[in-house]
Amino acid sequence: MDAAEISDDLTRVLYTAEQVQERVNELAAQIDADYQGRDILLIGVLNGAIMVMSDLARAMDSHCTMDWMAISSYGSGTKSSGVVRILKDLTTDISGKHVLIVEDIVDTGLTLSYLVQNLRSREPATLEVAAMFRKPGAVTAPVDVKYVGFDIPNEFVVGYGLDYAGKYRNLRDVATLSPHIYS
Ligand code: XMP
Ligand code: MG
Repeated sequence: MDAAEISDDLTRVLYTAEQVQERVNELAAQIDADYQGRDILLIGVLNGAIMVMSDLARAMDSHCTMDWMAISSYGSGTKSSGVVRILKDLTTDISGKHVLIVEDIVDTGLTLSYLVQNLRSREPATLEVAAMFRKPGAVTAPVDVKYVGFDIPNEFVVGYGLDYAGKYRNLRDVATLSPHIYS
C-alpha cells in the first residue's frame, strides 16, 4: 500500500519506503560490526516490529535466530496506558544468549523499560535494543536504545508495521496520521 492511496487520512510522509530500507541496511551493518560473528537472538515485539524484523534480519550478515513477544501497552487509541501486559511470551530460553530486542517505535519508553527489566532477569549474556523510530520528546521512562533508525517528532505515525487501531501496517512509507482520524 502506498501513501497516495489513502492521502486523506495522512498528513505527510515522514520517510519513504526507500529511506527506511536504506537506514535498516545501515543499522544491520552496525550490528554486524558490533557482534563480530557471534550468533544473535532477535526478539521481535509483536505486532509492530514484523516489518523491521524481517528487513533487519535479512540485511544482516550475522547468524541469528528469532523469537517473538506480544505485549500490550496501548488500547486501540493513540496514548500509552502505562499498563504493560504479556500477551505472548518467548518460546526460547534466552539465558547466556546475545539478545537484541527489535522494536518498531519507542514513545514514552514505558513498554521497553518493562521489557528490558523482564528479559534481564532471564540472564542473557548481553541485551541491547534496536528501534526503528524514537520520539525523544515523549520519553518518560528513559531506556538505552543502542540502535535507533530515526528520531521523529512527537506525532502519531503509521506504516512499516505501525498501526492505528490495526490499520495501515502494510503502508510502505511512514506517514503521520491526520488528527481527524483519532480525535
Ligand atoms: P511506549 O509509550 O510504551 O509505547 O514507548 C510503545 C508502543 O506504543 C505504540 N506506539 C505507536 N504506534 N504509531 C503507532 O502506530 C505511533 O506513533 C506510536 N507511538 C507508540 C507502539 O506499539 C510501541 O511499541
Ligand atoms: Mg510495538
